[in-house]
Amino acid sequence: MGISFSSLGLVNTRKMFAKAVKGGFAIPAYNFNNLEQIQAIISACVETESPVILQVSSGARKYANQTLLRYLAQGAVEYAKELSKGRGIPIALHLDHGDTFELCKDCIEFGFSSVMIDGSHHPYEENVKLTKKVVEYAHQHDVTVEGELGMLAGVEDAVSSDKHVFTSPEEVEDFTKRTGVDSLAIAIGTSHGAFKFKPGTDPKIRIDILREIEKRIPGFPIVLHGSSSVPQELIEKINKFGGKMDNAIGISEEQLRDAARSAVCKINIDSDGRLAMTAAIREVFYKNPAEFDPRKYLGPARDALKELYKHKNVHVLGSAGKAPEIMG
Ligand code: G3H
Ligand code: 13P
Ligand code: ZN
Repeated sequence: MGISFSSLGLVNTRKMFAKAVKGGFAIPAYNFNNLEQIQAIISACVETESPVILQVSSGARKYANQTLLRYLAQGAVEYAKELSKGRGIPIALHLDHGDTFELCKDCIEFGFSSVMIDGSHHPYEENVKLTKKVVEYAHQHDVTVEGELGMLAGVEDAVSSDKHVFTSPEEVEDFTKRTGVDSLAIAIGTSHGAFKFKPGTDPKIRIDILREIEKRIPGFPIVLHGSSSVPQELIEKINKFGGKMDNAIGISEEQLRDAARSAVCKINIDSDGRLAMTAAIREVFYKNPAEFDPRKYLGPARDALKELYKHKNVHVLGSAGKAPEIMG
C-alpha cells in the first residue's frame, strides 16, 4: 500500500459530514489546479475557521501533475498550521468525479482521504456494482466514498449534457444500502459551469426532490455538485474589461443556504472561483496592458478568490467557525 492520508495530516470526510448534517451547515468543496488557488482556499478557510475539502478533478491531474497536486495538499496542511498558530483546520483531499475503479484506487494509494466514484452515467445496476467495489477497497484504507445517482446537465471534463436526469427518490435507499457509500451526490437541477439556466427561465433547484430524498434516508450526507452562484458583479466586471460572457446564470445563494441547513453537507464550487480570478486578471491587463510579471496579475486574482471563499464560508455554507469542533 502507498501513502496513508493520515500520515499527511489529512482527514477523511466522516466526522465533517456527521457534524455538518447535525449542525445544519455544509462543508465547502473547492477545486484546485495551482498554487494560487491553494493559497486562497487555505487562507480563506483558516481566517474563517472553516473545514475544507480540496478537490482534484481528472482535468486537474492532467493539467498540473498528480504528484505536484498531492504535495500542494500536503503543503496546505502545514500552511494552515502556520497561519493558525499551530491549530490547523480539518482538510480532506478528494478525487472529484472519479470514473473508474482504477483511478479511485490510484488516488487512495496516493494519499487521498476521500474519492468520488461517479457511476451516474451507467445503468443503475452497473452503478451499484462499480460503487460497491470502490467502497470495499476504500474502506479498507479508511477512505470515504461519494457516489452519485441522477445526472447533472452542463460540462464536466469531456462529458457535456444539456439534459438533467433528476435523482429518483425511490432509488436512494437501495443504492446507499447496497453500496455502503458514505455520501450521495444528487441531481436536483444544479449543473456544472457558468451557464446553468437559460435566460428568461426560472432559476430554481428542485428542493421538493431533496426533501423527498431526506425523508427516505434521514440524516444521510447529501452532496450538491454544480453549485456556483455565478455572481453577476463578476460577470459584469469580466465583460467591462474585455470579456464576453453573456447570459451566465447560477444558483442563488438563498437556495444554497436553504440546502446547507438540511442534509446537504458538501457543496461543490469551482466555476465561481474561475470567474473571480478571470475578472481580477482582466482588470489588471485592461488597466495596464504592459504588465508582464505573473505575480502582478495572479496576486490580485488570488486575493479576489480568497474574498470569494470567505464570503461563501460565512454567508452561504455556514461552515465558518466550525473547524474547532471537527478538529477536537
Ligand atoms: O465538475 C467539474 C469541476 O468543475 C472540475 O472541472 O474537470 O474542468 O477540472 P474540470
Ligand atoms: P460549478 O461548475 O457549479 O462550480 O460546480 C463544480 C463541481 O460540481 C465540481 O465537482
Ligand atoms: Zn461536479
